[in-house]
Amino acid sequence: MTEDSTRPVLRDRFGRRIRYLRLSVTSACQLDCFYCTPRGRDGTARSATCLKSEHLIRAAEAAARVGIEKIRLTGGEPLAAPGITELVGRIRAVPGVSTVLATTNGLALETLAVPLRRAGLDGVNVSLDTLSPARFAAITGSSVLEKVLRGIDAALGSGLSVKLNAVMLRNINDDELPALARYARSHGLFVRFIERMGPVSEMARSFTRAEALEVLRADLGPLEPLEVDPEHPHVERFALEAWQMGFISPVTTNFCAGCDKLRLTSDGRLMTCLAQTRSASIADLLRDPAAQRELDASFRRAAASKSFASATCDPWGMRRIGG
Ligand code: 5AD
Repeated sequence: MTEDSTRPVLRDRFGRRIRYLRLSVTSACQLDCFYCTPRGRDGTARSATCLKSEHLIRAAEAAARVGIEKIRLTGGEPLAAPGITELVGRIRAVPGVSTVLATTNGLALETLAVPLRRAGLDGVNVSLDTLSPARFAAITGSSVLEKVLRGIDAALGSGLSVKLNAVMLRNINDDELPALARYARSHGLFVRFIERMGPVSEMARSFTRAEALEVLRADLGPLEPLEVDPEHPHVERFALEAWQMGFISPVTTNFCAGCDKLRLTSDGRLMTCLAQTRSASIADLLRDPAAQRELDASFRRAAASKSFASATCDPWGMRRIGG
């Protein structure tokens, strides 16, 4: 990201610069991954009213006015939201926004990668936990692995920057991490293996970064540790020749120190941390075009009130907060 000395700087009370907003554009998703939305536990999120595009744009404008530069669209499944291509274009055009990204299940990329790239989307993180159609169906509840893989190819062909997110699931895909790594390597993709968050009982069983590193080194050969990229302080990177991969280890490491994020839920609650339970609703302010100053103040207040670190992550339902 380029420095622009005319841009406002948003800092929290620990001096951290807050540049990054994760904007959940919908709580709906075509898939039902068991670790993301435990079945039967998500009734509220599905029925929650989502902000309209104009309100999301207003949120992006306010965030950019106070110093946010990078916006990631999340969900639910952001690319399934109606009017997503136009929304991307309008958010990309907000003064001060230099990067717009999306985290996606990949299903819509086959048709939307090119229009999204043209609208100004910079990149996508695609969730891919397995290359086995049967396992994909077991994890997500839908037999659509092939469509996701075609979506990844379409994204690569469109010029979007593409990364993979693979959640490590004990006894489900832990034997497949080398295959996922080789798939990523052969496609020139950066894959991030993610420790599974969830209820405390599940966290205790998480397949860990240390276990994965052992399995991957045994299969692929030496993975050389790299310096932390200051843009992505929560990702531990490794290299194998020209290819790179990473770990996101919320269970066995605490990477809160480098956090530069705010989050807005799809029903308009501003959150300072995935693990935080308190939040301020700015939905009414977003609906009121005359509330610009109050809206800006809400973003500044949220940044100021970030905790330095959270002791535990208990994000029951990425879909509720926006993954
Ligand atoms: N633990 C870890 N990662 C998760 N994701 C979704 N739910 C969980 C969880 N319980 C990941 C998905 C998605 C990203 C935003 O978060 O892989 O790509």
